[in-house]
Amino acid sequence: MHMATPKETVLITGGTGYIGSFTSLELLVAGYNVVIVDNLYNSSEETVNRIELICGTRPAFHKVDVTDSEALERVFKAHPEISSVIHFAALKSVGESTEIPAEYYRINVGGTAQLLSVMKKYNVDKIVFSSSATVYGDATRYPDMIPIPETCPLGPTNPYGRTKWFNEMIIEDHVKANPGSAAALLRYFNPCGAHPSGLLGEDPQGVPYNLLPLLGQVAVGKRPKIQVYGTDYDSHDGTAIRDYIHVVDLAQGHIAALEKLYDPSFQTCKAWNLGSGRGSTVFDILRAFSKAVGRELPYELAPRRAGDVLDLTAKPDLARQELNWYTKKTLEEACEDLWRWVKNNPSGYREEYKQELLDE
Ligand code: NAD
Ligand code: WQD
Repeated sequence: MHMATPKETVLITGGTGYIGSFTSLELLVAGYNVVIVDNLYNSSEETVNRIELICGTRPAFHKVDVTDSEALERVFKAHPEISSVIHFAALKSVGESTEIPAEYYRINVGGTAQLLSVMKKYNVDKIVFSSSATVYGDATRYPDMIPIPETCPLGPTNPYGRTKWFNEMIIEDHVKANPGSAAALLRYFNPCGAHPSGLLGEDPQGVPYNLLPLLGQVAVGKRPKIQVYGTDYDSHDGTAIRDYIHVVDLAQGHIAALEKLYDPSFQTCKAWNLGSGRGSTVFDILRAFSKAVGRELPYELAPRRAGDVLDLTAKPDLARQELNWYTKKTLEEACEDLWRWVKNNPSGYREEYKQELLDE
């Protein structure tokens, strides 16, 4: 496989967010230069300090909104060495997207269109895009589509998922119209876990939506218990099945995709699933995380959550064959790393946390 020239410079939008911060870190470790843009809507600049603390290199950071084309242009002008983009910046709450869909389309779809226009103006022709398994909607409605291959028909069931689907089509059109350009659409399954150092992790602002961040809050006493949404699914214990992937593996998947884009013979737009290929139920997760914490975490049974599907497990073979990427970390490691992160950072990256640490 072609290896990108060390010291290529990658623009990371949303680079202070959960997945963006891990990808920035892994890119720096692999020898790339990193320029982050983020408007800090759902993240903290403290992640830049933490990245530097872990790897010894500080990424460039610009507080910029991706929907602001003038500000975005200033970044490209300040860093003419940028040769590719990884685009994470987006709103990501499924529930919220049904309440304020226009904002989701403005930022998630408008932001991408804006970014592509600026990239074209500055002759940057490689983009890795954060898509999601949510583009598949309910794959169980098709026979033989679990685990889910990339060829599964798409059909997202909420506005957030549709923004990802539209983005995939917009990027595909852009690549078709611009010979020499290349794009990777990465469909993430359920990212989880934290950095083994305990210094970098997910810092949800407000009430988390996802299972593992919620369990993390139960473990540190910020939440009394977890609700298990639905125990009447057709699974081994009645709860729904997901494919949980350690965020460090996921970050490395971006490097594998980026290397593909730097291969001059790859001039197209292609989608890859990034998942482990292993399904776990809600009770499997509850058990694994309770084991990492060292005690049973309280839960109560609740009705199914609207919009949830039985099974979202990836068929990850294409990424293994074409990107030479596969997950290496286990669910147990993800749970241990998450526990280390929440225990050491009960208030995430916020100021009061540092005080608590100093008081210890
Ligand atoms: P995150 O919220 O932690 O990161 C997104 C970052 O984008 C945040 O730092 C936020 O401040 C920034 N941002 C939002 N709007 C912006 C704007 N207009 N301009 C500049 N920056 C902006 O979320 P994440 O979990 O790291 O997700 C990253 C990407 O991966 C998103 O596109 C998300 O939709 C996608 N994704 C996430 C998951 C998941 O479960 N976490 C799964 C599949 C896909
Ligand atoms: C996992 C399982 C819940 C919370 C979402 C988005 C998806 C993607 C990843 C961005 C489900 C159950 C959850 C709780 C529970 N994001 N659960 N109690 O729904 O698979 O995917 O995040 O692209 O688009 O939809 O993840 O972590 O919310 O739920 O029982 O309090 O845990 O029902 O079965 P989901 P999740």
